[in-house]
Amino acid sequence: MAVVTIVGGQWGDEGKGKIIDLLAKKAKIVARFSGGDNAGHTVVNPHGEFRLHLIPSGIFYPEVTCIIGNGVVINPAVLLQEIKDLSNHGVDTNRLFVSDRAHLIMPYHTLLDALEEERRSKGALGTTRRGIGPAFADKVARSGIRVGDLLDKETFRNRLSAALELKNIILTEVYQASPLSLEEIYNQYCHYGEQIASFIQETSSMIHEAVAKGEPVLLEGAQGALLDPDFGTYPYVTSSSPLAAAGCVGVGLGPKEIDRVVGVFKAYNTRVGAGPMPTELKDETGNLIREKAHEYGATTGRPRRCGWFDAVAGRFSVQINGITDIALTHLDIYDGFSQIKICTAYKFNDEVITSFPSNLDILEKCQPIYEEVEGWEESISGIRNFDKLPAEARNYMSRLEELLSCPINLVSVGPDRRQIISVKEFFS
Ligand code: GDP
Ligand code: IMO
Ligand code: MG
Repeated sequence: MAVVTIVGGQWGDEGKGKIIDLLAKKAKIVARFSGGDNAGHTVVNPHGEFRLHLIPSGIFYPEVTCIIGNGVVINPAVLLQEIKDLSNHGVDTNRLFVSDRAHLIMPYHTLLDALEEERRSKGALGTTRRGIGPAFADKVARSGIRVGDLLDKETFRNRLSAALELKNIILTEVYQASPLSLEEIYNQYCHYGEQIASFIQETSSMIHEAVAKGEPVLLEGAQGALLDPDFGTYPYVTSSSPLAAAGCVGVGLGPKEIDRVVGVFKAYNTRVGAGPMPTELKDETGNLIREKAHEYGATTGRPRRCGWFDAVAGRFSVQINGITDIALTHLDIYDGFSQIKICTAYKFNDEVITSFPSNLDILEKCQPIYEEVEGWEESISGIRNFDKLPAEARNYMSRLEELLSCPINLVSVGPDRRQIISVKEFFS
């Protein structure tokens, strides 16, 4: 088995960074395939604690090549800061490559993200304000600027000048904001270009070569299935697909090459930003989960909304991603819970719904139908062997496997790389 795609199964922040940092040990390449610096992937390992926004979570192994794929949008200031932070911690970034096809986040993207959110007012989506939506919109509108354009100053200036002309009309005439200066952006981005030039590559061929040799490759997803623009809670979604299928397009690989799809799920649900979340707990239990698990955004610091595990949404996520293996994280947060609830269906008016509704008006009115299972008293964060887990924890997992029709093959019991129970080997 060679190519493994790792995706978020819920609304993001499931612990993908931790799982990738763990699995990358056996990989030759780790490649990020979507999103941008809206992502915040936390890694806790012998080098320290890191929140990675753009750089793949495999960067801590000197022999692993890390690629930021064509499907990612890149704010070069964030990338350079991240490279600097890692270097300051003694982490080598010489094996990092950035696809020349990836699109750039420009200053007008971040500005417009904020202005659009303010204009939406009460209907704000709660974006990370990192310019993600406007950058992906420009990509598909064919007015984006790509990382490779930075390598030729004349091309870059022409593209920037064409794009900025329209953006300044929007800024001044729609939003009554000040226009942005072509010279300032040009000089700033030329400077970034010089600093990242050595990282820029045609990266899909590097992945093809590794796959041809049968070398293990990990595709690192960002966000989570329920934030997908097609299948998520539209319009409360992000602007690139976090699904496994996007992993192929986001690095330039055919779907036949993917051997396994690992879906990372928390043992409960969280969501940052606006939009429906049927199992949200606005009570003491929700607060308890938030405080115990420090559920505050890795990118924006916003408190995450917390609730019981939603198996209706979870099953949908397994289906739309083609998940073959589940990595269940944060099981330790349930230590000391006498009862744990799982949402197995929704009630809509007098109807019982077991599939995830596409219509937001329906989803917003859905009431969770819960099943209760026994919890456990003891702390499980020191356990490394599946059989040593309390019977109640194993029972909770097997109920989730049944509801999601998918095996749980990794169990995370704490933030540290070592706090893991491996049920199955992913690279053979
Ligand atoms: P990602 O975006 O999917 O990589 O997840 P984040 O890094 O945004 O959020 C996950 C948070 O949970 C981070 O603070 C991790 O250090 C932490 N974490 C990951 N796995 C576990 C776990 O099994 N138990 C606990 N208690 N924390 C975990
Ligand atoms: P990781 O990779 C959780 C959410 C935002 C907002 C919506 C749209 O760390 O799991 P955007 O800035 O993308 O236009 O915001 O998507 N969002 C995330 N939530 N984890 C993430 O990434 C997220 N990336 C975006 O909070 O609701
Ligand atoms: Mg995160």
